[in-house]
Amino acid sequence: MLGAVSVLILAAGCRQDMQNQPRMFPQRGSSMFASGRSVRPQVLHTVARGQLYESDYFYTGLMNGKEANLMPFPVTMQVLARGQERFNIYCTPCHSRVGNGAGMIVERGYKPAANFHDPRHLNQPISHYFYVMTNGYGAMPDYKAQIAPQDRWAIAAYIRALQLSQDATLKDVPSGVQVQSLKTIAQEQGYPESDTGPWPMPATAVWPTKPVGEFSGAPGLNPAPPPVHAAKPSTKGTTGRAPAKP
Ligand code: HEC
Repeated sequence: MLGAVSVLILAAGCRQDMQNQPRMFPQRGSSMFASGRSVRPQVLHTVARGQLYESDYFYTGLMNGKEANLMPFPVTMQVLARGQERFNIYCTPCHSRVGNGAGMIVERGYKPAANFHDPRHLNQPISHYFYVMTNGYGAMPDYKAQIAPQDRWAIAAYIRALQLSQDATLKDVPSGVQVQSLKTIAQEQGYPESDTGPWPMPATAVWPTKPVGEFSGAPGLNPAPPPVHAAKPSTKGTTGRAPAKP
């Protein structure tokens, strides 16, 4: 009995402590400070964490109000690996792993995302990618809350690497380095040869325009996309360009 009572008293005591601790409510006054404000003004000449804007370009991607083809820090393999990892998490759902804009969400009916291999995007300065991630672009939401500036730059650098991976010529290869064709690599690693070709849109893809005909089922269940669109992806490679004639 005594034990039970003391446990009760103890428990009640704990509850009291947690319930009645002093705390501030946002935008509500306080009698604790002479000014009556609960929100404290920043102490003069101090910098809080995450507030050190040493270089505007690093945070905005703009130099004198303009985009520039310049990384604010050196690109190492580590930076590229980080960019690849973040790109694969945040951008591939719409832009796909190769950056051709035919990601899974687009295949299911989202507005087609940019193909980073078309001439317009190839010619954009690197800070444009940073700027788009920071501020969004048309139908694309911004990613500034999800991705820190350092990582946005790493992704921008990785997009450049992606572009090179799809648009390189033999001139870009250092002399003496052997280049294997994708088909040879697939053969060696036991993948089917079809994996090296363009990625066709699956038949389940839902296009932004309504399918003609009577079917108007749930997204992803469309048995036959309209023929005009169905023919489109097969004429495009992963780069969005027509594949070389056999
Ligand atoms: C939810 C889908 C979605 C995601 C996720 C997404 N994008 Fe986009 N992105 C789009 C769409 C759609 C467009 C085309 C927008 C338009 O033209 O209205 C686009 C366009 C772009 C463009 C081209 C802008 C131009 O000048 O034409 C860039 C660059 C870009 N995205 C980068 C990225 C990067 C980097 C990421 C990852 C951090 C990302 N996007 C994630 C949907 C997405």
